Amino acid sequence: MSEQIHFSSEASKQQIYEELLPQIHALISDEKNLTANLANISAVLKQVFNWWWVGFYWVDETELVLGPFQGPIACTRIKLGKGVCGTAWQQQQSIVVPNVELFPGHIACSAVSKSEIVVPILKNNIVVGVLDCDSEYLNHYDEIDRIYLEKLATLISQTL
Ligand code: SME
Repeated sequence: MSEQIHFSSEASKQQIYEELLPQIHALISDEKNLTANLANISAVLKQVFNWWWVGFYWVDETELVLGPFQGPIACTRIKLGKGVCGTAWQQQQSIVVPNVELFPGHIACSAVSKSEIVVPILKNNIVVGVLDCDSEYLNHYDEIDRIYLEKLATLISQTL
């Protein structure tokens, strides 16, 4: 496995995702340990996109518990239906939040975070975790992020 992630420097966001997903697939396909894979995926996304915070919350009975991530210290546990992560879990769908201050019940782990996207990871149609990406810029995530991060969630789900 190569420890380098390569992508074209002038590429559009869509091209970056197109180049990235096969590399992430290669990175995780030979490793069965979930923590190792989620840790490396967080590192790749941070390295390539330099988002403020990127990482995983995993379902632990009635709550989400913090998993591998890159960025500042974060909330450890989130209840079903709470914040963006808990809402994406409850609704079993991705949520793009252009301005976190306008999202009712948003959990402000960091005042720096301005926008976010949360994508659920499903196994057998049940949410087992979420990918949470936070930006210090407003309106940072769009449909392109949603489409490709959902593809990433499917890749992860196939390793479970
Ligand atoms: N933004 C999340 C909380 C987690 S942190 O931002 C890392 C939410 O409202 O669900």
